[in-house]
This record gives sequence, structure tokens and C-alpha cells, in this order.
Amino acid sequence: MKGALTWGGVDCVELARRFGTPLYVFDESVIRARCAEIREAFLERWPGTSACYASKAFLTMAMARIVKREGLGLDVVSGGELHTALAAGFPPSRIELHGNAKSEGELRAALAAGVGRIIVDGVMELELLAALTAETGRRADVLIRVAPGVTPHTHAHIVTGHAGSKFGLPIEGGLLEGAVKLALASPGLTLRGFHFHIGSQIFEENSHVESVRRVAALMGRMKSALGYETEELNFGGGFGVGKMPDVPGVPGAEPHAPLCRFTDAMMKTLERAGPQRPVVTIEPGRWVVAEAGITLYTVETVKRLPGVTYVGVDGGMPDNPRPALYQAEYAGLVANKADVLPVEQAAIAGKCCETGDILISSIALPPVERGDLFAVFNTGAYNFSMAGNYNRLPRPAVVLARNGQANVIVARQSYDDLLAGERIPEND
Ligand SMILES: Cc1ncc(COP(=O)(O)O)c(C=O)c1O
Repeated sequence: MKGALTWGGVDCVELARRFGTPLYVFDESVIRARCAEIREAFLERWPGTSACYASKAFLTMAMARIVKREGLGLDVVSGGELHTALAAGFPPSRIELHGNAKSEGELRAALAAGVGRIIVDGVMELELLAALTAETGRRADVLIRVAPGVTPHTHAHIVTGHAGSKFGLPIEGGLLEGAVKLALASPGLTLRGFHFHIGSQIFEENSHVESVRRVAALMGRMKSALGYETEELNFGGGFGVGKMPDVPGVPGAEPHAPLCRFTDAMMKTLERAGPQRPVVTIEPGRWVVAEAGITLYTVETVKRLPGVTYVGVDGGMPDNPRPALYQAEYAGLVANKADVLPVEQAAIAGKCCETGDILISSIALPPVERGDLFAVFNTGAYNFSMAGNYNRLPRPAVVLARNGQANVIVARQSYDDLLAGERIPEND
């Protein structure tokens, strides 16, 4: 690499000049490589499986198109995500709707579109959905989300399948059995099976494997107690991604965790549990898209204090709330000095009025000055999708780069966009 980092074959200095900063940049080839790995290491290795990309990680119409072309399904979790997918021409039959607090409107929209699966989170939702199918004459294929009672090693805010979780129904106790009976008795519903998702950023496969073991036992209990044979089991996502991307040419690039490390262990556990294995679906989000994305910032200030140096950049927690939310760790480099040796440690500070708005707490940097370009790696997942407008900072543009070509797929918000929809009361 000479001087400047390139992303998707485009020089980052050129990207910043053309599109401004802060800027999200995605390398499409990385997304496609991960999708290809899903096909080769999971779908082809284990017949009777399917994969949905968890769109909460990053969704725009252009992203929905990529997923469609790659032949995967799409997990959506709200009316907004469903609307985006349909607007992009994503086939409804390959969409599954999630959510622990779905509105009646969201359920009606899913029924009207004819989505492939609705993952029901609780008894009240099941009753509402049964009533809506009776009223509209539409049918729904459903899975019931269960909480296997497993607590993986990750941040407490991103575990989801533990006992007492707000997601799903516990596998122990009578609630779940009641829900299965209700689904089986509802003429408009076809109960296809169960779903679990135990959390995000999980690096060891043991929690996933233990969840499979517990849910397989549950399937056995449902068969003996109710004669119910599970047709489908959805393993969720949560496969962890480190701080550095597995992208050739990037200084410090690191190999990514292969998907099969998780999926082989889970599939073998399920096959050992009984002769009739259900159809299995996975729902990776971060694993598909995190490494494809970087965020480019302009350095606005360098403040050298006794004991700490702050490099202040033109974005921060509005475009990446994850460090402030749950101490997510990131790596990066000075993109226009990618080949210059480090000389000092510094913190990368966001520009918001919060002491906690620190993107990276300590990183070795070359001599850094105002006007330099700082790139944060692995921001492809849960950055754009969690972005906000704190301190009235407009949301950055999103650029998709491929083979040296860069296209804006989401325009930068303007100051006037921030005012869109606002009204001053007439009697003011
Ligand atoms: C139901 C469900 N499936 C899949 C995912 C994707 O998780 P990850 O991006 O960690 O793979 C999530 C994330 O919250 C989820 O809630």
C-alpha cells in the first residue's frame, strides 16, 4: 500500500474529496465473499438448510438487492425494514418477520405482503395473529421464538436467549406448551417450528451448541407431549466479528472466524439428537456485513494533554453509538498515512457533548494533524442502522464501492433534512 488506504479499489482520500466526511464506505466484494461462504460452508455442505441475512445489521434498498442476487433470505424486524425490502423488489416469500413487540399494523403488512415466515415472540402476539388471519382470510407460516436459557460470553446488553429475556418464551415451564397448542388450534396458522437467537458478538461455539442441545430436547418433549413434529428450526445469528477486517492489502488485516466453526458444530449436535432433523435456517447479520464497512472521518483537532492525546473527528456517537452503548471496541488508521509508522498513543474522540463519545480509547498513530483522514474499520454492521442526529449532526452518506467504482447509495443528510417534518405552532 502506498500512502493512502483504498477501499473497494478506491483511494480513501479520493472518496473523502468526492463525497465528504464522515462517510460510510462499503466494499461490495467483501459482502459477496461472505455470502459465498454461507453458500459453500453451510447451504451446500448441509442439505435441507436456508440462510437469511439479518437486515437490522445494515439495510438499504441497494443492500436488499445484493442479498436478493446472492440468493439469501432476509430477516426484517419492523414495518420500516419490511417496507425497504419490498421497495427494493425483495421476494416476500424469502422474508421473515421478527420482533418482540410487533404492532397490529406490522402484522397486517406482513400478511398482506405474504412474507415467508412470521417468528412469533409470545402468546398475545399469537392470539392477535390468529385473529388477523381469520379476519383477512390470509394464512401465516409461523415459528415460535424460544429462549433456551443460555448466557453466552458477550456484553450483557446483547445477550437475548437467557432465562428472563424479553425475547421469546422460556423452554422450561408451561407457557411454551400453551403457545404450541394455541398455534396448532388456529386454522389460519401453520406452526413450522421454533427459533432461537442467543445474542450477538459471540466468539465461542459452545453457547450455540448448548442451545441446540436444549432446543432439540424441547422438540422431543413437544413430540411426546403433543405429538408435534418440528419441521423447521432457526438458529438465529450472533457469530462474532473481530476489530480488523479480513481484507487483502489492509495493514494489520486478520482472518475472520469461519462460519463453519459455528454451523458445523451446531448441525452435528442436532443430527446426533435424533434421526429426523428439521430444516435449519441461520440468520447472520454482523458476520455478513461488518468487515465490508469503514467510516472515514476528517481530523478536526489534536489536543495533547499530560497523559492523554485526543484526536477529535467530525463524527462520533451519532454515526456509531456502539462504543458508548456497550463499550464496543474498534480499530482504525490514519487513512492518508497508512504507510507511516506510529509515534504516539491517542484516543479518537467524537464531536458530541458527551464525555463517553470516544470511538477508540487508545490507538497508536503516526504524526497526526488537522485535516488528516481517519478510517475506523468494521463499521459495516449496526453503525448506519443505529445512527441518529444527536447534536443535530446530519447522518453521513453511504457509498458502495466495487472494483474501483464508487456510488452513493444513501445521500448525506443536509441541514434542511434535519428540519423536514418540523412545524412551529401558528400561534407562536
Ligand atoms: C432474531 C435475530 N436474528 C439474527 C440477529 C443477527 O445477529 P448478528 O448480527 O449478531 O449476527 C439478531 C440480532 O439482534 C436477532 O435479534
